[in-house]
Amino acid sequence: MTAPLKSVLRMPLVNLAETARQLAESGKQVSVLWQEEESLAFVARGRDYRSEFHINPSDEVMYQVKGEMRLHYLTPEGNEEVEVIPEGSVIYTPAGTPHSPRFPSDAAALIIERKRRPGEIDRFQWFCSGCRGLLHEEQFVVGDYRDDPVSQAYRRFFDSEELRTCKQCGQVMPRP
Ligand SMILES: [Fe+2]
Repeated sequence: MTAPLKSVLRMPLVNLAETARQLAESGKQVSVLWQEEESLAFVARGRDYRSEFHINPSDEVMYQVKGEMRLHYLTPEGNEEVEVIPEGSVIYTPAGTPHSPRFPSDAAALIIERKRRPGEIDRFQWFCSGCRGLLHEEQFVVGDYRDDPVSQAYRRFFDSEELRTCKQCGQVMPRP
């Protein structure tokens, strides 16, 4: 006899406010809700130091659960724009858009992407605040999102003054 659908399908039901509260208490940055081929979802706390632009091979949907996000992004012409996402609002960001979600550590957002396909690479780019040139790029093959690739990229970047020094104008991006 075939098992009833409900027992074979994994259909996580998540209370976002509760998840955001637990995440804040845990001190962690992200809480992964599920990771499937076509859907990867996590709740993230803000990072007060966030300065890089993430280039994701997957589309992203960002829903602001708590607090306000200022989403910096680069236009195809390379201009930096800012979209303000109030609490309770959602924004769609197409794959390949360099974007930098800036919100405080006591705010939280739901992010929905998809698992990376073989050969796909996530890129994190920092730009010089002096001459606006590319300062450094970190690349990541994102396997398991619980490894928190954004924190790993920041650790590598902040731990190296050389990586934070502009090759063009010599300006050093300070640690936060
Ligand atoms: Fe520079």
